[in-house]
Amino acid sequence: MSAPDLYAVFGNPIAHSRSPAIHAAFAAATGEDLRYEARLAPLAGFAGAIAEFVAAGGRGANVTVPFKEEACRLSNRLSERAARAGAVNTLTFSDGEICGDNTDGVGLVQDIAGNLGFPLSGRRILLLGAGGAARGAIAPLLAAKPASLHIANRSADKALALADLFADIAPVTTSNFAELTGKCFDLVINATSASLAGENLPLPEDLFAAGALAYDMMYGKGETPFLHWARIQGAARRADGLGMLVEQAAEAFRIWRGKRPDTAPVLAELRRQLTS
Ligand code: ATR
Repeated sequence: MSAPDLYAVFGNPIAHSRSPAIHAAFAAATGEDLRYEARLAPLAGFAGAIAEFVAAGGRGANVTVPFKEEACRLSNRLSERAARAGAVNTLTFSDGEICGDNTDGVGLVQDIAGNLGFPLSGRRILLLGAGGAARGAIAPLLAAKPASLHIANRSADKALALADLFADIAPVTTSNFAELTGKCFDLVINATSASLAGENLPLPEDLFAAGALAYDMMYGKGETPFLHWARIQGAARRADGLGMLVEQAAEAFRIWRGKRPDTAPVLAELRRQLTS
């Protein structure tokens, strides 16, 4: 019997990653024979860790904080969406080549439009943040043909620089948070890392249109600070990023194995574990 194909997620820290459990569930459900591990890469040793993994027969890897930009530079070939994102979360190793892709943005759109049943076409979207997480979301959001996309960031110049990278796809407007006053959106996505520092975003009142969805890329036990604020503000619907996590994993699994697993039971089980 041959050994199962080997995959891993690389990050630092990595101990709490849910990716091994998610991919084990996908493999069991699709009958794929693979092993998927969590691997801690030294902060200054990501390339070496990948080289070692490839030499040991690794077939593919997911990449998480803080290595996504480095994984982009390490790739010999990049998908269009990874090049747009400037970041890679999915590596495939074949014939001596490192192919980089980014499934975060499509995972986000799949969670919102698919799982949450909130179609994006014709919607007014507000994206909060202008870092790597926001950048990965922009092209997939624009591909869904919203009425408009506005990026707001603490430092407005970063939002403007980010919007410029996508100007050839569609116009994207930008501002700081205070300048959002008087504006109204159907979908507000938090792609900042403010809550990691326990900080709230200084957002104006009345951002949410009737029936609006507040989406936080973060997730955790209980309500995130952004979703707490959104509830007080009267956002009709609210969702955290657990579904995005599962959907980006499903897209990586499809790239590697050619099968897209059913995400609903895996998401339900993760939700149960998170809330119990
Ligand atoms: P990531 O890869 O998670 O996007 P990042 O590239 O460091 O991480 O970007 C973090 C984002 O969160 C940025 O948009 C940052 O705003 P600035 O560009 O103004 O720094 C935003 N952010 C982090 N902490 C914040 C806070 N306390 N309030 C508002 N925005 C914050």
